[in-house]
Amino acid sequence: MKNIEQVRRVAIVGTGIMGTGIALAFARAGYQTAAVDTRQENLDRARKTALNACRELVNDGLLKESQVDAVLKNLSLTLDWDEIISQADFIVESVPEILKVKQGVFERCGNLCSPETVVTSTTSSMSISEIAAHMKHPERAVVTHWFVPPHVMRVIEVVPGKGTSDEAVQLTKVLLQKVGKTPVVCKENPGFIHNYIQTAMARAAISLVDMGVAHAEDIDTVVKNGFALRLAQLGPIRAADYAGLETLLHVLEYLYEKTGDSTFKPPAILKEKVAKGELGLKSGKGFYAYSPEEAEKVTASLDNAVMRAASLSSTRPDRCSNVFGQWRTVVHQLDPTVLCDESSDKELMNQSPGLARFRRKFVLGHYDCRRFTHDLHVVEVHVRLKVADAP
Ligand SMILES: NC(=O)c1ccc[n+]([C@@H]2O[C@H](COP(=O)([O-])OP(=O)(O)OC[C@H]3O[C@@H](n4cnc5c(N)ncnc54)[C@H](O)[C@@H]3O)[C@@H](O)[C@H]2O)c1
Repeated sequence: MKNIEQVRRVAIVGTGIMGTGIALAFARAGYQTAAVDTRQENLDRARKTALNACRELVNDGLLKESQVDAVLKNLSLTLDWDEIISQADFIVESVPEILKVKQGVFERCGNLCSPETVVTSTTSSMSISEIAAHMKHPERAVVTHWFVPPHVMRVIEVVPGKGTSDEAVQLTKVLLQKVGKTPVVCKENPGFIHNYIQTAMARAAISLVDMGVAHAEDIDTVVKNGFALRLAQLGPIRAADYAGLETLLHVLEYLYEKTGDSTFKPPAILKEKVAKGELGLKSGKGFYAYSPEEAEKVTASLDNAVMRAASLSSTRPDRCSNVFGQWRTVVHQLDPTVLCDESSDKELMNQSPGLARFRRKFVLGHYDCRRFTHDLHVVEVHVRLKVADAP
């Protein structure tokens, strides 16, 4: 297997949503990056997408204007498969999620590139053992599951197959770290970590619509303002520790008894932990261990994160209907293209689509723009609500 110093040229196969963003991530990190597709119009679209993404990064202060040319110079787009694949030191396949198409790409790469070149797949769910089944030297095949938008999102799941060598996994991890990413290795499993969890949640939410329990919008409102506020801070396992593992066990047992749905069958490890008195934050041990200081820290950081997120979500006009006549602080997400400062609050009210909607619903007695955070495109406005003409 090549060592990390030998990796200079990266090839991306497929210039769709993922391939273009992944190519940009490597080009930004200084790698000579060549992306190949089957149609010229896809390459043209990819070039435009990459340029727009660079502009966004500049607007957000994540890339200097002076660096854009260098990044784009590192990125070449071509229809010439053979040339870029035979010269590549590292390959990322990013073609549609169709097993036969991916197998074809791996077989072709296996025939063209050096046996020492690691070939990765961005598959969202499939087994790399299957994808690389017909390729020469399948020990250098590994999944790198990037998330959209790939040039921005940091975490990447790295999933070796049955025959993948440790060297291939190690090289992949180090390279991704050099590109500024956070690789997380997991075992082969349909859906890996992310999609195993995400699809279970989507299935449950859509089933509730199907069963007529609630409307889609109400389900989204409950999730966005409920456990989603905790998840970003804690993740599902630490959130379970925080809530109490015995509580989770009781809820699961009740749901399983009432529905007979095996999704709710409590996992053995959860029962064992509760039997041992490992109840989470409250007992000092659950899936994680907590000293009293750590427990306090987890609680405080969660409280802060939830308060911040809750104040953002409380900006929906319909949430303000009970505060007429009182001063209230509204934190509003702005259209990122709107640039303004504290002195131009009137203009801000006119230009921000979110605040304009707010104004259509309510007559504002006074308002006063207090703080504007360019990074987050967030504005904090102090308002006194006078009259409601909201439906
Ligand atoms: N879109 C997402 O949100 C997302 C997120 C994570 C992972 N993924 C995974 O990433 C992969 C790519 O997804 P996408 O959304 O970018 O797809 P896409 O359809 O946007 O792009 C695929 C590209 O591959 C090209 N292509 C097809 N066959 C080719 C070949 N033989 N040689 C060269 N190019 C070829 C197509 O012309 C197209 O431009 C899939 O496996 C998908 O499951 C997608």
